[in-house]
Amino acid sequence: MIRRVTGLCLALWALTVPMLHAGAQPSRARRGMVACQNALTADVGVRVLAEGGTAVDAAVATALALAVTHPSAGNLGGGGFLLYRSAAGDAEAFDFRETAPAGASATMFLRNGKYDAGLHHDSHLAVGVPGTVAGLHLAWKDHGRLPWRRLVEPAITLAREGFVVTDTFARDLADILPEMKRYPASVAQFSRAGVPYDAGDVFRQADLARTLERIAEKGPDGFYQGETADLIEAEMKRGGGLIDRADLKAYEARKRTPVKGTYRGYEILSIPPPSSGGVALIEMLNLLEGWDLHATGFLSAATVHRMAESMRRAYADRARYLGDPDFGLVPVERLTSKDYAGKLRGTIREDRASVSSPSNFSWGKESAQTTHLSVVDAERNAVSLTYTLEDGFGSKIVVPGAGFLLNNEMGDFNAGPGLTTEEGLIGTEANLAAPRKRMLSSMTPTILSKDGRLFMVIGTPGGRRIINTILQVILDVVDFGMNIQEAIDAPRIHHQWLPDEINYETRGLSPDTVALLRGKGHKLHEGWPWPSIPQGIVVSAEGGVLEGGSDRRDPDGGAVGR
Ligand code: DON
Repeated sequence: MIRRVTGLCLALWALTVPMLHAGAQPSRARRGMVACQNALTADVGVRVLAEGGTAVDAAVATALALAVTHPSAGNLGGGGFLLYRSAAGDAEAFDFRETAPAGASATMFLRNGKYDAGLHHDSHLAVGVPGTVAGLHLAWKDHGRLPWRRLVEPAITLAREGFVVTDTFARDLADILPEMKRYPASVAQFSRAGVPYDAGDVFRQADLARTLERIAEKGPDGFYQGETADLIEAEMKRGGGLIDRADLKAYEARKRTPVKGTYRGYEILSIPPPSSGGVALIEMLNLLEGWDLHATGFLSAATVHRMAESMRRAYADRARYLGDPDFGLVPVERLTSKDYAGKLRGTIREDRASVSSPSNFSWGKESAQTTHLSVVDAERNAVSLTYTLEDGFGSKIVVPGAGFLLNNEMGDFNAGPGLTTEEGLIGTEANLAAPRKRMLSSMTPTILSKDGRLFMVIGTPGGRRIINTILQVILDVVDFGMNIQEAIDAPRIHHQWLPDEINYETRGLSPDTVALLRGKGHKLHEGWPWPSIPQGIVVSAEGGVLEGGSDRRDPDGGAVGR
């Protein structure tokens, strides 16, 4: 673990200087683009576009291939959200968030009446019913053009024939190996009989190739029924998990209406509950619209103060109100209204930081891995897709014989009824576990348009930092005039209500800015690692050129165009 963090710190340190300088150029193309955390895999999507596939076709093929090439977060055994906007402006959100199995309950993470973090985050009970295969298939049925098998094929080939291990991937695999030791199928899949892969080795996944074959042939039934479902159920029984074949068969991806807002003349589309991302993003944009941020300047003390106070309020509302809308009323309209933002803005003082009152609650642990891809096709249809296993490599449990990792997304439910502590547990009602309920997410795939025309496709991993990261990429482009690569590379800050502090990237704020903020009463914390890795595409004003940005905090990513 120490090695991982150190390695990451060194890699990020090397990138610090360019991050703080303007002038980084986006990749440019005209006929289509895919941006994701693995450039090799972006190419899979670009080839689909070249064959006449839609943005959804390309997103589906890329997401399935990332399950092979980027297994820390790309997945079959996890879940996420896909936001679609047609060139004409119609939009739909595809919710393929995992669900709790039928046997789940609000007290399932207690052992002998006491909360057990191991059960919550690191056990077979931490696994939610996966949504990815159902979600990708549903989006493809509605908006795909190429045959389903054509979209699964590249993933099958990459799994069966293998791909060359990069230095970053070799390091990730070596670092996670000790945590996989409890699960022989995981060790077998991700090492050479317990010996880590080296950069330059070819990495093959034969069981995964066979599972993908079943998905290519039967669609979701190749995952949620038959052999794959039997293998999942067997592993659950072996490890004391709850998911059975009935849970798998009952899983349904949902179509939802995106949340909508506006910011300085741009239309914002994002993901509704059970993600908190869209609501909190629009709430913060509404708050910040009341000030001229361009005048106060990029990451000046005045700007950071306003951002942090807006973040504090939106994250407090997130904790109070948000959960699965199928299980309780979520006040989306109120929280995203300009009226509400106006009233909330009135509670912000220019000279003093507010105090986050923890008579209530704080947050759980920060997790490490999710992944995002942005796609625009020749017609200017767009997809913004974020999906995850929750932690890096999820539960670390590979389904024996099926070759894919299961998520540990149940950890995104609250710990238990009333279990609200200063140490970071939340026990509020809206997000307690219940049978077939979806756990609250921060994933925020987002699309901006201007005067009805596509402008930006953006998303990122990063746990709770996701929402603030998307906010800042938008501010950096709209208020501070950066191109998409500069905006993605620019340093960021984070405030999440509790703990009551502004987190900023190393050297992201100058010492005198920090001093001014301390003078207002803010607590500040500087540090790596910074887990958000945005991937974005912007359409140039005249509409002809696509500009792609991929966060250089991860050197394997890329925005690839045609
Ligand atoms: O759904 C969520 O909000 C989390 N499970 C996402 C985890 C994540 O982004 C970790 N990545 N860095």
